[in-house]
Amino acid sequence: MNRRRFLKASGAGVAMAGAGMGWAQTGARPLPVLAMTDLTGGIEGRIALGLAPATHDFGNGAASATYGINSSYLGPVLRVKQGQTLPFDVSNGLADPTTLHWHGLHIPGPVDGGPHQEIAPGQTWSPDVPIQQRASMNWFHSHTHGRTAQQTYKGLAGVMLIEDDASLSADLPRSYGVDDFTLVLQDKLFDGAGRMRYEVSGEVFEDGFQGDTLVVNGAIAPLAQTVPRGLVRLRILNACNARFLTLSMAEGPVQVIASDGGFLAARVEADSILMSPGERYEILVDLRRAASNSLNVSFGEGGGFLAGLFGGAETAALTLNSNAEPGLDAALPDALANLAPPEPSAARVTRSFALEMDTGADLAALAANWGNFCGGGAMAINGQPMKMDRIDEAVRRGDTEIWRISVDDMLHPFHIHGGSFRILSQNGAPPPAYAQGWKDMVHVEDGWSEVMMRFDHEAPADAPYMYHCHILEHEDCGMMGQFTVT
Ligand code: C2O
Ligand code: CU
Ligand code: CU
Repeated sequence: MNRRRFLKASGAGVAMAGAGMGWAQTGARPLPVLAMTDLTGGIEGRIALGLAPATHDFGNGAASATYGINSSYLGPVLRVKQGQTLPFDVSNGLADPTTLHWHGLHIPGPVDGGPHQEIAPGQTWSPDVPIQQRASMNWFHSHTHGRTAQQTYKGLAGVMLIEDDASLSADLPRSYGVDDFTLVLQDKLFDGAGRMRYEVSGEVFEDGFQGDTLVVNGAIAPLAQTVPRGLVRLRILNACNARFLTLSMAEGPVQVIASDGGFLAARVEADSILMSPGERYEILVDLRRAASNSLNVSFGEGGGFLAGLFGGAETAALTLNSNAEPGLDAALPDALANLAPPEPSAARVTRSFALEMDTGADLAALAANWGNFCGGGAMAINGQPMKMDRIDEAVRRGDTEIWRISVDDMLHPFHIHGGSFRILSQNGAPPPAYAQGWKDMVHVEDGWSEVMMRFDHEAPADAPYMYHCHILEHEDCGMMGQFTVT
């Protein structure tokens, strides 16, 4: 284990000990169901999203200073349908500039909500966002240059569920808040008075911000929810700034049906799934006969000996208890989507991206001038920290490319805007079966990973797409680049 890995793991250990005591004292809280805006039946007028400071109770009785989107913390779950165009009015009620990026959407650069679509305090941004892609779980979050980590942590994040004809007719649970739940998983730190806190220092920039307490939909875990006797669907987002989460079930395997960009070809049974910040997975829990089951979440990678040693102790994040009501009495599906394996020979161009944790003092000074936020250090891709007026790559529209991402230190989650990709290899090996479908996140650690992606939408030089590490402190530190598609 190298130095940074060790720091990360030992930090998690100290943290989890404290969190465990809190859980034991408080018991399971009810699962908050995030407000749903269901637009699948049609859209009237514009869709207003108001970003504003707020106070929020995470379930410990304290009033934490947060940001919310039409709420005291996080945003609504937007349920939309393929083929719609979403007329948003995103208004900035904060004292700072902000942006709202639609993570996972296949949309043109000018409406992508990246750092170039900044919204000044008091202003409203009104993009018309065309939804052309298949059913999938996506999300939106702040992407403000140098401020993404702090703004997202404070609550500027929400979920967008895209449905299509196939997803709406599939024999799957879809009664929101009854047998179909959206779970936003995050780690938080609370001060002695129980108020959420965030601060960064040199070490925190390196590892990314790590909280000690698991929060689901804005409430401190463990949580409990009563459901009908039947299949239950959990649509899960890891919205942590920097933490990888390992998910498993108390009973039986994890039944995975979808990843970032849509349904898997077939249901995958996995003992556990590793979720990086930014990743989404949909799973089914079969409560047709069982009275209950729990989703367990552990902080950090992997389980077993190392997890025990370094505090990755599992906690029951959410316990589902079935009642007497009949629910969806359908079998676990096998085939889900028509999805052939990726064909690398379709790629015309191969590009390489080296993620760098420490650029040295000269680049660090430049990086700070360029608006990156890294406490005197800097991070880079291919030797260059993020710079707003430099385009790093130019992609030809309609091309399929292979991107090879490498790193020599620590586990990083890499994300590309503008579409979905397939993972050809992850750290030199085939990805786990649950990560072989449509993705926009890939892990890389001590080696390289390769993805294959087709670039179908346009991103001109004044509204380029981003690619970056989704440890948000690394992104703010400069581990990000920009590309056009023309
Ligand atoms: Cu979820 Cu460029 O971000
Ligand atoms: Cu994105
Ligand atoms: Cu990183």
